[in-house]
Amino acid sequence: MKILGIETSCDETAAAVVEDSENILSNIVSSQVDIHRRYGGIVPEVASRQHLITILPVLESAMTGAKVSWQDIGAVAVTVGPGLAGSLLVGANVAKSISLAYGLPLIAVNHLEAHIYANWLNNDKPVFPCLCLIVSGGHSDLVLMTGHGRFEKLGRTRDDAAGEAFDKAARILGLGYPGGPAIEKAASGREPSFPLPRAWLKGTDDFSFSGLKTAVLHLASDNDFSDPMRAAEAAASFQQAVVDVLTAKTIQAAERLGVKQILLCGGVASNQVLRDAFSGSSPVPVLIPPPKLCTDNAAMVAACGCYSFQRGKIGGRDVDVVPGLSLG
Ligand code: KG4
Ligand code: ZN
Repeated sequence: MKILGIETSCDETAAAVVEDSENILSNIVSSQVDIHRRYGGIVPEVASRQHLITILPVLESAMTGAKVSWQDIGAVAVTVGPGLAGSLLVGANVAKSISLAYGLPLIAVNHLEAHIYANWLNNDKPVFPCLCLIVSGGHSDLVLMTGHGRFEKLGRTRDDAAGEAFDKAARILGLGYPGGPAIEKAASGREPSFPLPRAWLKGTDDFSFSGLKTAVLHLASDNDFSDPMRAAEAAASFQQAVVDVLTAKTIQAAERLGVKQILLCGGVASNQVLRDAFSGSSPVPVLIPPPKLCTDNAAMVAACGCYSFQRGKIGGRDVDVVPGLSLG
């Protein structure tokens, strides 16, 4: 069965066709990064208008790229939350229109679940129970997954999400937007020579990154980061602090719970230093999607939708968006 996935929850307009929950026939992502860069962050009103402009060409590219016609598609899966309301509405309404026009089942997908399901697009398939670390612009969640659609949230960020912390630190260091890739690039080959704090929050699976961000702010007032070498060393120090906490706390929880695997996902999981830290230090096997399936895309939405479909989770055409949707 071929499923069309649609994703417009934030600043990427994306559509993909996935066959039998694992074969990606097409995966088109139109990023708005260049548009939001001048504001130093995502402007919701601008994002939704841009989705409106881009969604139909992106859909068309996904269909032609997959070499399929509407008769070949078995269902439409769309992200309904969490995300920006105006952005989510564009994808949801396009999906509803397609569902109505071609008589296709409509599957409402949770964006966080979709990030996790990016791991089902890997060659190595996940095994239950597994521990999922979702690290994105809005979330740093540790989630126990015991079966398809069965999630238990164990930990969350108490303040900034990991991706948000990358974005804010990059702004402080004058490294540009989006912060994650900017920090990774600047930090490449640099020593993490500035001592920065790690919030361990012992006894919980929660995370906290706002203290680290404040420490970077203090560094910036005590150092001259107009010198790119110094800014790069600060970037490396910040990146290492985030990676240390994410890696140690996740591995600790995985060992405590006796899970079979750790699954990484979300935009921050595209960071090579984080990927290497997990692969190099975890006694529990780790699955990580390729970087372009970690950041927002619609192939993960289609894969997630496929497993929802198999469990009979099909939405009516009155499906609404839920900007504050939580996992499970
Ligand atoms: O999952 P995602 O694409 O969108 C959300 O659902 O939020 O994640 C975006 C976040 C941004 O904060 C971005 O700075 C971060 O992921 N990110 C990275 C990297 N690439 C993207 N963070 C660290 N290193 C990267 N290479
Ligand atoms: Zn995301």
